[in-house]
Amino acid sequence: QGNPTPYEAIGEGQLHRLIDAFYSKVQKHPDLHPIFPDDLSETIRKQKQFMTQYLGGPSLYTDEHGHPMLRARHLPFEITPERAKAWLSCMYEAMDEIGLEGEIRDFFYHRLFLTAQHMVNTASTDG
Ligand code: HEM
Repeated sequence: QGNPTPYEAIGEGQLHRLIDAFYSKVQKHPDLHPIFPDDLSETIRKQKQFMTQYLGGPSLYTDEHGHPMLRARHLPFEITPERAKAWLSCMYEAMDEIGLEGEIRDFFYHRLFLTAQHMVNTASTDG
């Protein structure tokens, strides 16, 4: 057997704790909460499925919802550079909160950083 996937390195339990911690921060963030539903339970469920496969685990998201087409699925929401920054700051704080550290944290955060830039679809509002 080869090296563990990032999903195996993080583990299901830790990944789920990270996503729960992340959305409780999103819900309280003044720039993010207006674009998210009040009830985040379905969002959280989908994000657990998505991040499992994003990290090399089983294709839970695609099996239920089809191809992620992430940028397209985000087009209904105004994602400014400020919102991308806010999203990443909630993730960074969630990683701190659950104690995700080391190379796996750096690897995961960097990938999220790149994907978040790709989601930006609206120019800065404080220009
Ligand atoms: C869904 C915002 C970045 C993955 C959503 C939704 C919003 C949102 C408002 C819809 C929630 C709902 O109605 O349930 C943002 C913002 C981002 C961002 C402001 C800042 C850049 C990302 C990134 C990823 C991601 C970096 C993945 C690495 C997802 C997934 C869904 C989702 C998987 C669920 C799609 C579905 O409905 O099937 N996001 N997002 N998002 N987002 Fe993001």
